[in-house]
Amino acid sequence: MTHLLDVDGIPRPQVERLLELAVEMREARAARRSPDLLERETIATCFYEASTRTRVSFELAAKALGATTVDLAIAGSSVGKGESLVDTMRTLERTGVTVAVLRHGSAGAPWLVARETGLRVVNAGDGAHAHPTQALLDALTLREALGTLDGARVVIVGDVAHSRVARSNLHLLGTLGARLRVAGPPAFVAGFDAWPGVEVATTLDGALDGADAVMTLRVQLERDAGSGISSVADYARAWGITPERLERARPGAPLLHPGPTNEGVELSAEAANGPRSLIGRQVENGVPVRMAVLATVCGAVA
Ligand code: NCD
Repeated sequence: MTHLLDVDGIPRPQVERLLELAVEMREARAARRSPDLLERETIATCFYEASTRTRVSFELAAKALGATTVDLAIAGSSVGKGESLVDTMRTLERTGVTVAVLRHGSAGAPWLVARETGLRVVNAGDGAHAHPTQALLDALTLREALGTLDGARVVIVGDVAHSRVARSNLHLLGTLGARLRVAGPPAFVAGFDAWPGVEVATTLDGALDGADAVMTLRVQLERDAGSGISSVADYARAWGITPERLERARPGAPLLHPGPTNEGVELSAEAANGPRSLIGRQVENGVPVRMAVLATVCGAVA
């Protein structure tokens, strides 16, 4: 594996190995004994779209493994002078960057960079398409909470249509044996009935019935999600996750959200901060999962 572009098509044993490696990285980091596996690598974080947890955790993951890191601060870069994505990435490569961690608003951008440059590329989110490291950290968090994903009913609620997190999770959780259901207003789940093995629910209560775990999503207003709903307030009333509504799920079923949350919209503050919430745990797992991914694409681990 020289790039991580999506989790689509990664065979189960390789997914299992990445998750195992993430657990080893988490233990090593906690003991302040992270191995210097990436001493010879220079890793650039290139975020053409906003990010807090993904960008910070990639940078900390790279540093923990001894890499040199650089952040392409887009706002102050030559991107504003009209330099193309490929030219910008070729420039980074010539300065000695070996790995680009790329977030971009256009689906497919990481594939383009992987094809047109000699960089190793890690997709940190491309348009509404894919977000592989988020899916890996979600899978790790869920698996540790549930014991196994085999046969577990995982329900993804909300703006599935515009969510790269949902798409990558549907691929990855499916690979790990989960039974998948998506739910939301019609415009947010359109087309998902065609996904093999994915069930579509049209009411929140129906969606949560029998759920072993629930993942909710931010409404992607920057991707024109607003045109699919009558108003954010109506959406919140019909689809917002609260502790009361979670009672429909299996007892103790955990709640996930990739962040950033909009409390009062896709979930209430009580649900986000309640005993079922794994949102903090998801963030904590971000660094070790990205350590495992960077070490793997750099060929530093077996
Ligand atoms: C997500 C993203 O950027 O796709 N955030 C993240 O990386 N944790 C989800 C979102 O922005 O809603």
